[in-house]
Amino acid sequence: KLQPSDAILVRGISRPKYYILHDEIVLDGKLGAGAFGQVWRGKFWRKNEAKDVAIKRLNHGKSGKEILRGFVKEAKLVQKLNHPNLIRVIGIAPTEEPLMIILELAKNGCLKNYLHNLSKKEKRVEDEILIGFCLDMARGMAYLAAKMIIHRDLAARNLLLGEKMEVKISDFGLSECGKIEARATKIKVPIRWLAPESIDTLIFTTKSDVWAFAVTMWEIFSMCASDPFPGLTNRQAKDIIRDKSKNPPMDPPNETPKQMAKLMVECFERNVEERPGFAEIMRKLAPENEDLN
Ligand code: ADE
Repeated sequence: KLQPSDAILVRGISRPKYYILHDEIVLDGKLGAGAFGQVWRGKFWRKNEAKDVAIKRLNHGKSGKEILRGFVKEAKLVQKLNHPNLIRVIGIAPTEEPLMIILELAKNGCLKNYLHNLSKKEKRVEDEILIGFCLDMARGMAYLAAKMIIHRDLAARNLLLGEKMEVKISDFGLSECGKIEARATKIKVPIRWLAPESIDTLIFTTKSDVWAFAVTMWEIFSMCASDPFPGLTNRQAKDIIRDKSKNPPMDPPNETPKQMAKLMVECFERNVEERPGFAEIMRKLAPENEDLN
């Protein structure tokens, strides 16, 4: 049930705070586009104050009543999540097309672009900084895992950079909504990031998120110069992921610091039971904090 403090009066109608109207949003410029629609930067105006935000505009789809109800329910859930390494979901604008998701703006953009562009100039970021990116990602994922939320699409393309170059994970929870319109055609599956146990079933767990964490570590330590399984087709990548004799399925990039290469291989464990969880991964990335748990 809505508490009075959860609601806001808009045009005389009481709505939950996360329920945003299209005329409270001003679009400033396009940031990117994906299968689900477009991402813009812009301003969220409320009570005469403007907040910088990112806006996901979903493609027109079959936004039937049922889907819309699911969308609102999901938004209610994820807007409560609050962690420095997760992109905050500020709200949704479900009253008009296109449906919009209003997100915290990550001032320094996408980690993948940042590393990829440096790699093209033959530059490399210091190991300590790359390890820091992995630790930030592990902290955000440990928070999600503790809330029993499965990401399903952890990859460098879904890591953004905040004001202090801290990693912020995006596209959790509501990412499902992005698939609404994709379902009509064909769901795009991120094959190269899929755990062996998910590849045929498309069943995801926190442990399949851990596998994707290993793939994302591989991307980070290769400076996002290429996609995982470089030079291979999707079909070939799939065969290697399925091949029980390929342990790990992908060698850590040559430049990977030893401890990080070891952790990556542990997260590429084929036996789900033996694959570490995110709390353990976090401890391994920040050994000085080991006593704090
Ligand atoms: N691209 C996609 N989502 C974004 C966000 N929240 N901030 C900045 N760039 C983005």
